[in-house]
Amino acid sequence: MCGIVAYVGNKPCQQLLIEGLKRLEYRGYDSAGCAVIQDGALRVVKAVGRVSNLEDRLEAIGSFTGTIGMAHTRWATHGGVTDVNAHPHTDDKVGIALIHNGIIENYAALKTYLEEKGHVFKSQTDTEVLAMLIGELYEGDLEKAVQAALREVTGAYAICVICEKEPSTLVVARKGSPLIVGIGNGEYIVASDASAIVSHTTQAMTLADYNVVKITPQGFRTSTIHDVPVTPKIEQLELELQEIELGGYRHFMQKEIFEQPKSLRNCFRGRCDAKEGRVILGGLADHAKELNKVRRISLAAQGTALHAAMIGQYLFEDLAKIPARAEYASEFRYRNPIIEDGTAIIAVSQSGETADTLAGLHEAKERGAFALGVINVVGSSIARETDAGVYLRVGPEIGVASTKAFTGQVAVLTMIALYLGRRRFMSAEQCTELLTALDSVPEKIERILTQDAAIRAVTQKYCDRENWLFLGRGYNYPTALEGALKLKEISYIHAEGMPAAEMKHGPIALINEGMPAVFIANKGRQYEKVLSNIQEVRARGGHVIAVATECDEHIKRYAEDVLYIPDIPEPLSPMLAVVPLQLMAYHAAVIRGHDVDKPRNLAKSVTVE
Ligand code: AGP
Repeated sequence: MCGIVAYVGNKPCQQLLIEGLKRLEYRGYDSAGCAVIQDGALRVVKAVGRVSNLEDRLEAIGSFTGTIGMAHTRWATHGGVTDVNAHPHTDDKVGIALIHNGIIENYAALKTYLEEKGHVFKSQTDTEVLAMLIGELYEGDLEKAVQAALREVTGAYAICVICEKEPSTLVVARKGSPLIVGIGNGEYIVASDASAIVSHTTQAMTLADYNVVKITPQGFRTSTIHDVPVTPKIEQLELELQEIELGGYRHFMQKEIFEQPKSLRNCFRGRCDAKEGRVILGGLADHAKELNKVRRISLAAQGTALHAAMIGQYLFEDLAKIPARAEYASEFRYRNPIIEDGTAIIAVSQSGETADTLAGLHEAKERGAFALGVINVVGSSIARETDAGVYLRVGPEIGVASTKAFTGQVAVLTMIALYLGRRRFMSAEQCTELLTALDSVPEKIERILTQDAAIRAVTQKYCDRENWLFLGRGYNYPTALEGALKLKEISYIHAEGMPAAEMKHGPIALINEGMPAVFIANKGRQYEKVLSNIQEVRARGGHVIAVATECDEHIKRYAEDVLYIPDIPEPLSPMLAVVPLQLMAYHAAVIRGHDVDKPRNLAKSVTVE
């Protein structure tokens, strides 16, 4: 996923573009670049690495004063991380500059066509092909050239285009990748997400697929790629600036870990009526008929969202008695899934822009499934594709490593399972008991967070080890997977999660002297079995770190280090057990000197397949 920001209006835009890029840098940070029309001439500056490198280059050549421009921060898909491959890309004929988030799938055929027309390419990117195509099709009207080019393209795109020959016109378009147009007073700010817009205006319109918008300081026109006029929907951006500021924390990931008590209170607010034993989910209220028909649930997601979906699988079978299966969306969509009548698909996604998850959702819908979303970003592509859904309401998540969104996803899936359970076999009393326990989760997480220093100390002991195991059973098998993913994606330590029972079927061969093995060993149905698995590791020289239930003294005979979490009914325990794992990953990355919020090779949301 890449970061896009553009401006057309009545004031010099270079600083606004750079500030916007910095707010979007979590989306991708391999390289950055900007283009401004300065005194009628197109000026393009690019730099490998962070936005600050681009800023240094701009300072060296002197600031631009142009009032129309655009900027881009890249997560590489086609072509290496080089200046030449950085965006903006230009054509070789009419002075087009273009920035792009997505993939042009038929770029090779288009490139051949353009090379036969005599165009000479400089980069290895698909984006340059689109810039060159627009230049080739330009006949004095940039909007029409962009529409004509996009009619030839297959793939996903969010693009901004300017042209030297039309120094007051910005044309933007999208399909499959997000793009928002902020509407100011005689000025417009276009960006990949609201975080780059909200400090300038809260009036905005989110483009739909195949929308093209021609923007000048005098106004804008929205149409389709076939030039059919479109009436845009102007909305109020709800994002608050302080939500996207660090607020005294060292990193966004740290802030978001510590925000979980608050974010979960926001997630639960108005939805849990423990007294009456019922869950109120506004997003499902109009779909009682479809929900009563649900006989099977498929959950599709990637990464951390998949781990939450896997916990959802346990919740739906355990609490609602509905057969459920969670799997990689990328696998689901290609395995020719059987979707019987009464099947619901639940797409779980923080960003709502993950291409694999969106594709999995489409596949299930085409086969007749009732589509639900468990999403954080309001109005995102996946949210708009579902029949109904429940937003996390945990606030914007900036850290690339997902934390509060994970606990928010598990919380929402828990509420949906209770909601469906009460429409089947669950008694009001059982629901009251679980909702009362659910209500205690934020306060219990606060208690865990007070152990941050102790968790850091345990991490310090082992963060020089290059191989870790994470093991859990039942509801906390997916939690173990999540702990492993957190550690590997920000500390670059190799970590593997698995069901605790699976270890003796092969992975136990990995255990050697000093190898850390994290066990989720809270009180539950399989506690004794987990103790046996811990002994298997200790017998071979492994060092065991146990996440255990408060007041459990017995575990100290088995584990070298114990991180305690408050007692809670087992179905709700992942929201607690994950917190020490999040903090261990965070501290390991800081101790090892890595960039916690922008880990190498990663991006916040993967909008390409
Ligand atoms: C989580 O820490 C990772 N950054 C990544 O696995 C992420 O969860 C995955 O890409 C799914 O993103 P989504 O929730 O926005 O769909």
